[in-house]
Amino acid sequence: MNKKILTKTVARLMKIPKGILAIDESLNTSAGRFLKLGVPNTEEKRREYRELLITAPKIEKYISGYILFDETIKQKTVDGKSFVSILNSKGIEIGIKVDAGTTDFSNHDGEKITKGLEGLSERLKEYKKLGATFAKWRAVYTIGVHIPSFDCMKVNAEIFAKYAILCQENDIVPIVEPEILIDGNHTLEKCYQVTARNLEMVFAKLKDANVFLPGMILKTSMVISGKESKEKSSPEKVAEITLRCLKEHVPEDIGGIVFLSGGQFDLEATMNLNAMHKNNFLPWPLSFSYGRAIQNPAFKSWAKNPNDVSGAQELLLQSAQNNSLASIGKYK
Ligand code: 13P
Repeated sequence: MNKKILTKTVARLMKIPKGILAIDESLNTSAGRFLKLGVPNTEEKRREYRELLITAPKIEKYISGYILFDETIKQKTVDGKSFVSILNSKGIEIGIKVDAGTTDFSNHDGEKITKGLEGLSERLKEYKKLGATFAKWRAVYTIGVHIPSFDCMKVNAEIFAKYAILCQENDIVPIVEPEILIDGNHTLEKCYQVTARNLEMVFAKLKDANVFLPGMILKTSMVISGKESKEKSSPEKVAEITLRCLKEHVPEDIGGIVFLSGGQFDLEATMNLNAMHKNNFLPWPLSFSYGRAIQNPAFKSWAKNPNDVSGAQELLLQSAQNNSLASIGKYK
């Protein structure tokens, strides 16, 4: 593990007011989103859409890294330039989703474990040759009456630690993404409790495995009430409780923290991040790594009118700029 390489990559990724753009939707997730808007879910259509995202002019002003999917890291533009070469020419870091999705956690109803450790070391070496400097691994936790269970949190945390060490041994910065799902009617307080317990478990296992914390990034959900909950919190409240949770449960020497949007309304994700940067002392760089909250307007526009690439790219740039402003508390 070369700690210098890892910390330098982290510094480039966490260069505020930039954030990370996630465009690593799996085949299944893409299928769901494409079909909903009547776009055929073919490899060529996915390539065409991702070309739009990758070639968007000036996006590098707001985005430090793109997280790609296995298919995407190997794809090219219609005129034959590799996506990686385009991102490199803009000074954007190449990230890669390396988990293989989730599977049911046996004997634990409604809980999931993330898979993909098998062959991971070889895949990391291959991705590194293709240009990847960072990776992402996501685990999901549903809030229910008795879940997430201690066992589910423990097993996912142990897997995170194995993944993170393998990445670091290959000089690839691991993004560790424990996502507390927004589904359900849980309260803000309940989300706080679950997030806090889970972060404790994740960092306990990362430390046990000697993961180099300054050479990794945490990608987390915000502390918010469930989507079906009647309780609606202001950005100030979300910011206050999320920062309290992170300050209490995330080590100060971690490389940085970024948020996923997780099905929040686009503007909600932006305003919540903005509120976190209003007069708050933060021990770590804190930014965004949204997928939907940045892509949504561009995706909808392209689905409706695939020929208007520059129109969709302008919408992408606007969303990226809004979140960039939010990462310094200047979004209005
Ligand atoms: P969303 O911002 O759409 O939740 O996506 C972020 C991500 O990378 C999920 O794994």
